[in-house]
Amino acid sequence: VTAEKAGFDHFMLKEIYEQPKAYRDTMLGRIAEDGKSVYLKELSMSDEYVKSIRKVHIVACGTAYHAGLVGKSVIESLARIPVETDVASEYRYRSPIITPDTLVIVVSQSGETADTLAALREAQKNGARVLAITNVVGSSVAREADDVIVTWAGPEIAVASTKAYTSQLIAFYLFGLHLAGVLGTQEQSDVEALIEGLHALPAQVESILEQSAVLKQVAESMSHHKSLFFIGRGVDYAVAQEGSLKLKEISYIHSEAYAAGELKHGTLALIEDGIPVIALVTQEALYEKTLSNIKEVKARGAHVLAIANNGSEEEVAKSVDEIFAIPKTLPILSPALAVVPLQLISYYASLALGHDVDKPRNLAKSVTVE
Ligand code: G6P
Repeated sequence: VTAEKAGFDHFMLKEIYEQPKAYRDTMLGRIAEDGKSVYLKELSMSDEYVKSIRKVHIVACGTAYHAGLVGKSVIESLARIPVETDVASEYRYRSPIITPDTLVIVVSQSGETADTLAALREAQKNGARVLAITNVVGSSVAREADDVIVTWAGPEIAVASTKAYTSQLIAFYLFGLHLAGVLGTQEQSDVEALIEGLHALPAQVESILEQSAVLKQVAESMSHHKSLFFIGRGVDYAVAQEGSLKLKEISYIHSEAYAAGELKHGTLALIEDGIPVIALVTQEALYEKTLSNIKEVKARGAHVLAIANNGSEEEVAKSVDEIFAIPKTLPILSPALAVVPLQLISYYASLALGHDVDKPRNLAKSVTVE
């Protein structure tokens, strides 16, 4: 068993450390060597079809749903097509408006999640084309979808998903660039900057992993708390939701993810002396606003850890108690880096509390019942 874990104590830790490889493998053969364009040869959808897409629905469960929240920002910003992201168990029952010009994207690590599969079938029944983003080539979702983008994360064993989530993000970046290429919605220089940013991610993740000892300390001190908060704006809010889910799944510590600007409309009432708040502060355009939300929680006694960009420390330091700096990337790519410290914090918190990291209570890796 230790051999299977390649020397790591748990599958989850191994899978966290496999992320640089998962990013590279998911990009491999899908980006032109000159770095000027992406090519997803596996897609059978024609350019004419792409031009006819009027809206996109992204449907998934759990961590894959959180990847879909980032996917919404990616597609809206790169291709300017309106996107809605839904939890699969809700999607079918809200009688969604699915038309033949709706592209439905289902995201599923296993490709076997019953709710997601049912959403796929519902979409096809209504005449929509379905694109699956999945980690399992021969899965039900892969077989039934009209198009498939495989994430090459390799087998994921730990119940808490890590490398599958980040590979799903890579798939969204590639697909967003594909759409932009067909639709001409991005300047060539912006496309090239994004591709350069994508290529830099694996080494940037490695540099975060090298600092895991700091995160272990953070996690150990947080593990004594009953409840904590994750806050952020924009894609940082999407990452906050994934960080909060990860922590709940394996440490059983209660946490909530909140859109930073929404705190004052209710949740702020729960902030009391000493409560840990993890603030995602990677979106430069939103710094000022997020920092003012951080001041709101600080004023009520919260202990704030910021996940912030390298180089922004000085600006952020005044408002927080601790900073974990991540390498600078383009704003839309930052989830692929910012989630990594949160994965490690969850892992080390679970470990400190003596829980079964890879097999948390009540949860299954793949849920094949609705
Ligand atoms: C289960 C797992 C989650 C996962 C979700 C969706 O609940 O415990 O970690 O995110 O299913 O799984 P899928 O295979 O569809 O991505």
